Amino acid sequence: MVGEEFFHIADAIHRGQLSGDGHYTKLCERWLEEKTGGEKALLTHSCTAALEMAAILCDLGPGDEVIMPSFTFVSTANAVVLRGATPVFVDIDPSTLNLCPDKTKSAITDKTKAIYVVHYAGAVADMDRFKTLADEHDLYIVEDAAQALGSSYKNQQAGSIGDLAAFSFHETKNVISGEGGALIINNPKMIERAEVIREKGTNRSQFFRGQVDKYTWVDLGSSFLPGELIAAFLYAQLLKEDNIFARRLDMWQAYDEALRPLSAKFGFKCPDPVPDTVHNGHMYYLQLPDLASRQAFIASMKAKLIYTPFHYVPLHSAPAGQRYGSTPASMAVTDKVSDTLVRLPIFYSLDEQDRVIAAVKETVEEILI
Ligand SMILES: Cc1ncc(COP(=O)(O)O)c(C=O)c1O
Repeated sequence: MVGEEFFHIADAIHRGQLSGDGHYTKLCERWLEEKTGGEKALLTHSCTAALEMAAILCDLGPGDEVIMPSFTFVSTANAVVLRGATPVFVDIDPSTLNLCPDKTKSAITDKTKAIYVVHYAGAVADMDRFKTLADEHDLYIVEDAAQALGSSYKNQQAGSIGDLAAFSFHETKNVISGEGGALIINNPKMIERAEVIREKGTNRSQFFRGQVDKYTWVDLGSSFLPGELIAAFLYAQLLKEDNIFARRLDMWQAYDEALRPLSAKFGFKCPDPVPDTVHNGHMYYLQLPDLASRQAFIASMKAKLIYTPFHYVPLHSAPAGQRYGSTPASMAVTDKVSDTLVRLPIFYSLDEQDRVIAAVKETVEEILI
């Protein structure tokens, strides 16, 4: 919480509109357009919803393939599977933990229609390489920027580079509204349709702008928009985005300064700098030597009352991933990272970072000697 959330929620109630697309939704959307430089922002009730809208906008259907990492959250893949298309899982780069451009190139077939690129831990993927591949093969690029609000790549904000981009405001993210998300539409040909898809497949937005005299069902769609109370909460957070960003970068830096000097001695790995990217301090993670030491680390930290989660169970090895996806090549990096990565606590109101750092130092002494 940054302090002004209740004020804006009360104001939204006084304004009298609780359903979506009111005063606060518009304020959030303008903020996102200005911040990212993206063409058009539409608030959604989650990043999952924004990814599903993106799949409809790319006209995905049976027979189409979409290249994506397996080291990601399920929503990236589900959005594609819900359209009847096939997620093609490709390995990540061991240094950036983002989709590997070379392996993506090898996975392109004449069925490939899009690449869903995930900016892991707020570090933007190598978008020049992906744009070149997309231009050569006539593919859409969707940025899963769930973790990347405020990150940039070669001075372009995350979310402004692909045809479409999805942000998350889930409470685990930097800027939050409990559940929440946004779709950024950079491909001008998709803007009008995006409004329709988000409004249950109707041209209701055009009706409210006075462009049509009644609204009706014109396309596929669902209810993808949040109510005004969520938007009011989110707006309070967006106004403090600079503070949140600065605070998280300070915490990220403090972890790095304390732990990187120990990494060679104890054999764990700190995040590598990602070329051309300015990250947003979303996540600080360590890679332990193997699964056994990662599990011992988590257990020892838990005994010190500090929760250090791991993720992701790779999608290519998950039951639904095996049923719906395809995995044409080795996923050795994904498998290794998934076994060894652990995340350290990082959130706006964290006031015990010194205790966490001391506990990590004690734990690595205990388990990695
Ligand atoms: C990479 C990625 N994509 C998608 C999502 C889904 O976001 P949401 O919970 O807002 O639907 C998340 C959430 O953790 C995520 O990390």
